[in-house]
Amino acid sequence: MQFSTKTFDPSLKTACLILSVAGAKQFCSLGSAIDKALGGVLSQALSGGDLSPKLGATWMVTNASKNLPRILLVGTGKEKTLSAQDFGVICKAAASALQASAAKEVVSALGSAARDSGAEALRIEVQAVNEAHYRFEQFKTKDKRPAAALQKWQLHAPTSAASKLALEQASAISAGIALAKDLGNSPGNVCTPSFLATTAQKMGKSLKMEVQVLEEKQMRKLGMGSFLAVAQGSAQAPKMIVMHYRGASAKQAPIALIGKGITFDTGGISIKPAPEMDEMKFDMCGAASVLGTMQAVAQMRLPINVIGVVPTCENMPSSTAVKPGDIVTSMSGQTIEILNTDAEGRLILCDAMTYTATFKPAVMIDIATLTGACVIALGHHHSGLFSKQETLTEQLLAAGRASGDTCWHMPMDDAYQESLKSNFADMGNVGGRAGGSITAACFLSRFTSNIAWAHLDIAGTAWKSGAAKGASGRPVGLLTRYLMNLSSK
Ligand code: BES
Ligand code: MN
Ligand code: ZN
Repeated sequence: MQFSTKTFDPSLKTACLILSVAGAKQFCSLGSAIDKALGGVLSQALSGGDLSPKLGATWMVTNASKNLPRILLVGTGKEKTLSAQDFGVICKAAASALQASAAKEVVSALGSAARDSGAEALRIEVQAVNEAHYRFEQFKTKDKRPAAALQKWQLHAPTSAASKLALEQASAISAGIALAKDLGNSPGNVCTPSFLATTAQKMGKSLKMEVQVLEEKQMRKLGMGSFLAVAQGSAQAPKMIVMHYRGASAKQAPIALIGKGITFDTGGISIKPAPEMDEMKFDMCGAASVLGTMQAVAQMRLPINVIGVVPTCENMPSSTAVKPGDIVTSMSGQTIEILNTDAEGRLILCDAMTYTATFKPAVMIDIATLTGACVIALGHHHSGLFSKQETLTEQLLAAGRASGDTCWHMPMDDAYQESLKSNFADMGNVGGRAGGSITAACFLSRFTSNIAWAHLDIAGTAWKSGAAKGASGRPVGLLTRYLMNLSSK
């Protein structure tokens, strides 16, 4: 899809004009002007009650005039102006409604319905349209959805340097989200640790980022006994991917993003039940979000330094697999009794965090589909945010609100640390069912090397189950917004 800005008025022509409607029939200023110019055709069309007063409801008015063969009306519910999230919903609804339309180009005046209009609204609209048009059909040989006729999406807004930049940034973020989705949706037999490593290396070449991939031998030398214990049951070689984006002076400490890259989580010897186990191909969505964010940041050329680190392997049962009760030594020197081999995410992340600390980052953020308990706590709307750093917490919460890719601050008091006690090692890798997402975060907190740290548990937000099964691309939106905010200071 091509995106551009264009200032529309009632004298102009377009294959499809998109207008927002609040309540029963409150138009935006362009909508009112059009309605007036067409002698009240739109108000009349609404008087039949065909447009439900719900957020994201749509109604197509056809042949209102020669210049306007299609006018798509999109309901904003009761409110006239919408939060970032709700604004994204109406944009997506509009784009979906046009999926089967023959219109090749549209002019959208939805922007005026966004509470924070301007550049942010442009970005959200572009991302929402891209989202609605996303497909993952590379493994289908038939029943593919027909490609939409729509080629050109013009946003009713003044054309300026700022709006041009916003559109470019939105395209970069959309591409990052699409990459994260593609990687997440790819099956475990395709998206292996080596596949992720190759993807990172290719990205490094095309976007001029330094990319290193540590192999098992080097990791053994570094003492990553915890990560390698998870990998040892699989025939797939583990990889530690390290990407350096350098957009600012080398003196500026980087922001480090660390993504859990379990390309398939069977649970290992503590094997998972069969139902929905296929969804454990999504257990690398943290890694995918790091790759997607790195790509977006590099494409936007943000003036900031960012390191992306991805520990990646499979968690499999086999005669070489790690067993419940095994004790391993992490790179930090701390020993861990692996009481449950299904709590493997923290075991690969802890060594990745110790390794990342050697780059002396200003901030370390790990992103992981870490616990089913987080899904129970927060459901599928907010990612779990765990951090004791007030500034970092505020920045991430704000980035979530602004991008519509939200997170919720969870508690992480020291009292929860007690449940990680082990009779035989420095700690166990599980803390029981109660507060499971919190004790997992507590485990990771022991490997932060005193660096400002936040943990995002995306188990409930990284993908959708059921009929709409598929990766969401979250939290690329949140992370890119956070990094953009940092780099504009
Ligand atoms: N990848 C899973 C977490 C998960 C499960 C995410 C279901 C989304 C849906 C993780 O490795 C895991 O298995 N965690 C265990 C931890 C437990 C053994 C302490 C869990 O949540 O059950
Ligand atoms: Mn697991
Ligand atoms: Zn897992």
